[in-house]
Amino acid sequence: MSQPTPHQFAADGVNPDSVPYKTTSTGARMPAIGLGTFGSDHYSGESIAEAVKGAIEVGYRHIDCAAVYGNEHLVGQSLRHAMQNGVKREDLWITSKLWNDKHDEKDVIPACEHSLKDLQLDYLDLYLIHWPFPNYHAPGVEVTSRDPHARPYIHENFMKTWRQLEKLVDMGLVRHIGTSNMTIPKLTLLLRDTRIQPTATEMELHPHFQQPELFKFVVENSIIPIAFSPIGSPRRPERDRTDEDTVDMEDPLIVQIAQRLNVHPAIVCLKWAIQRGQVPIPFSTTRSHYLANLRCAVMEPLTDEEMMAITKIDKNCRLIKGQVFLWKEGQNWEDLWDVQGEITQA
Ligand SMILES: NC(=O)c1ccc[n+]([C@@H]2O[C@H](COP(=O)([O-])OP(=O)(O)OC[C@H]3O[C@@H](n4cnc5c(N)ncnc54)[C@H](OP(=O)(O)O)[C@@H]3O)[C@@H](O)[C@H]2O)c1
Repeated sequence: MSQPTPHQFAADGVNPDSVPYKTTSTGARMPAIGLGTFGSDHYSGESIAEAVKGAIEVGYRHIDCAAVYGNEHLVGQSLRHAMQNGVKREDLWITSKLWNDKHDEKDVIPACEHSLKDLQLDYLDLYLIHWPFPNYHAPGVEVTSRDPHARPYIHENFMKTWRQLEKLVDMGLVRHIGTSNMTIPKLTLLLRDTRIQPTATEMELHPHFQQPELFKFVVENSIIPIAFSPIGSPRRPERDRTDEDTVDMEDPLIVQIAQRLNVHPAIVCLKWAIQRGQVPIPFSTTRSHYLANLRCAVMEPLTDEEMMAITKIDKNCRLIKGQVFLWKEGQNWEDLWDVQGEITQA
């Protein structure tokens, strides 16, 4: 990465060159922490775009976007601002995602081109299939909302979508491709059938939801795990809340480590994530928060004992359950996640 020059870099920021990174099979560098941009139905696109601008100024170089977040046209203005002020395109890692109503072969390339136009970019560093289901729901709907045309996972169809992502790589519009919200059985089939392997997969990961088996599978297959909702998504949409959900940041162990380090419990969740080997993409519109989140990537590590102790507070508590993607009445959200080790069929 090139040296930051003063006008593009806040005095209290973090030198992007000091932030750890993951190296992809192509030799590209993905910064080990990024900024999320999903407003969870609460935050305006303008406030998120402002955060993207501020985050790049304090040293973020990795931004996690998606068409369905409805703000790529605003985030694009912040990216352009950064590049006009000296940040080089090749020093940024920009991810976007294909939404569920664009899985049809004819829709994939135009959807990616739309994101590129909104983001004011010539290429994406990473393009993900956001969910393995083609089931559409409008932003902000109730948890009981269902797409009348909803279908289960159909591998043949998913591969048709994937082939279009591979084509995007051939066209030079996308440097890497990947998945999101996948399971071991689905990834096993994908790995069997791909021409271009997934570089990364986005998955929910936080101390109370560590997904040890999927995490191990992903790492063993040289796929980079990107951790969404890394601090437990305290402002997630109402549809993603149940009475059984637990709160990572209130866990006594997380609080105790935070007290030792004199930091917010959010920072402990993020330090654990980076040290474990996943790439967290915390969302924040508060400058002091997103700055602290980035700084923690270059702070002293947690102790081995603390890392081991956090392993033991996993509660298998999935927060983003995905009920709106179910395809027939009487189903449980666990059907989306292949908990029996096989792909749940119609
Ligand atoms: N692939 C997928 O299906 C998927 C699903 C969900 C999310 N994601 C991605 O992952 C990103 C992050 O997940 P998320 O937004 O669900 O949840 P999250 O990052 O776990 O939590 C975000 C919340 O934590 C607060 N926060 C952040 N840093 C903090 C700090 N240092 N101290 C105190 N509070 C802090 C933020 O509030 P402030 O604004 O006040 O800081 C915000 O309300 C999303 O934005 C999106 O890009 C992807």
